[in-house]
Amino acid sequence: MSVESWSPSSWRAKPIEQSPVYSDAAALADVERQLAGFPPLVFAGEARKLKRMLGKVANGEAFLLQGGDCAESFAEHSADNIRDFFRVFLQMAVVETFAAALPVVKVGRIAGQFAKPRSAPNETVGGVSLPSYRGDIVNDIAFEASARVPDPARQLMAYRQAAATLNLLRAFATGGYANLENAHQWMLGFIKDSPQSARYQELADHITQTLGFMRAIGLDPESHQELRQTDFYTSHEALLLGFEEALTRVDSTTGDYYATSGHMIWIGDRTRQPGHAHIEYARGVKNPIGLKCGPTLNPDELIRLIDILNPDNEAGRLTLICRFGADKVEASLPTLIRAVQQEGRSVVWSCDPMHGNTVKAASGYKTRPFDKIMSEIRSFFAVHQGEGTYPGGVHLEMTGKNVTECTGGARAISDADLHDRYHTYCDPRLNAEQAIEVAFLIAELLKTGRMGKGLQAHPAAAE
Ligand code: TRP
Ligand code: MN
Repeated sequence: MSVESWSPSSWRAKPIEQSPVYSDAAALADVERQLAGFPPLVFAGEARKLKRMLGKVANGEAFLLQGGDCAESFAEHSADNIRDFFRVFLQMAVVETFAAALPVVKVGRIAGQFAKPRSAPNETVGGVSLPSYRGDIVNDIAFEASARVPDPARQLMAYRQAAATLNLLRAFATGGYANLENAHQWMLGFIKDSPQSARYQELADHITQTLGFMRAIGLDPESHQELRQTDFYTSHEALLLGFEEALTRVDSTTGDYYATSGHMIWIGDRTRQPGHAHIEYARGVKNPIGLKCGPTLNPDELIRLIDILNPDNEAGRLTLICRFGADKVEASLPTLIRAVQQEGRSVVWSCDPMHGNTVKAASGYKTRPFDKIMSEIRSFFAVHQGEGTYPGGVHLEMTGKNVTECTGGARAISDADLHDRYHTYCDPRLNAEQAIEVAFLIAELLKTGRMGKGLQAHPAAAE
């Protein structure tokens, strides 16, 4: 099979969807030239380490936790926002690590998640029609004609915000904040009186007790960095390809190309046509790649995409992020799993329980019922159990803030409550409390799955 040559710009000769139209081509080219001279945000070695960890996930030896805002915004760029997200994420990770006794691979939808695909090119409000908002890296969310004009200078802002965000995240991950001895401190103020709080407190008590024992026998966080540090990776949808191209660099140690805008990038369900621009770009960079899989993806097309994106069948290279909707998983997922199994392909199966469960509430808000989110996760695990494959991860839209965007959860947010704190720039996110509730569900499912496997592997022990 002859393989067409690839370069960071070969996507430009392919058909492209969801691409903003810039009126000033010279201004766009100038921005891309500037970006191409800026330092990389992440390093190839880090992307390779993530790929190794995802290889473990593909083999059932680790679990992938991926999550963050639907869309990051320039307006909400603060240390508090980043810290609140990070500590909820750590809480979720620790809940899952403890329950499953498996390493959790931590990947944020952060430090670069700025570009958004839209279902319609225009948005109409009260008879006025304007170009759709495409994320802060492209245009402004304000419903005014001037705001919606794509502005290339926004790409420079996005780059600088991503750099500052990543800088803080690296400090949090390695500078002491993520020390397991702080597991109690990651509890947020507003969660303290919540139903999830007692549950988390109990788990943090277990961790404290375990660390006390370990310290007594000479294993303390001061001398064992794995107890006081964590590896945190970044990811985003690689939608704005001019930006991605400018940050694509050759790794000097291997001579391979890497996207240096984030550790992992993914391709959306709307831009995954084989032979089109987004798939073309992704096939040539060596980072771990995610592929969103929705109900319209058929098994043959999936195998074709796997051929293109992971021709060497490298474990950890490709994560299939399934987003079917709670009512469709059981019908859609098994055929994809069987096709992948039959062809002997190594992939990470991850569940995005958000995007297939978006509804318009009577109030007019776009929302997601929490019970549908929980139900899609349960079905995802059940289908994998039935097929004998490993449910390797989840992909969530979430925030550390106490927002009211998804209905339901332990605090039973209703349609009428949505207006209260509905702050998302795009899709409705899990709030901190709902995110932790999801983490406990996953912990339970992972634990049950492991016990099931354990009994099968050692039949004598069950007697
Ligand atoms: N280094 C281990 C890990 O990342 C343990 C760890 C340290 C950890 N801090 C953490 C786990 C915070 C979860 C959350 O898995
Ligand atoms: Mn979204």
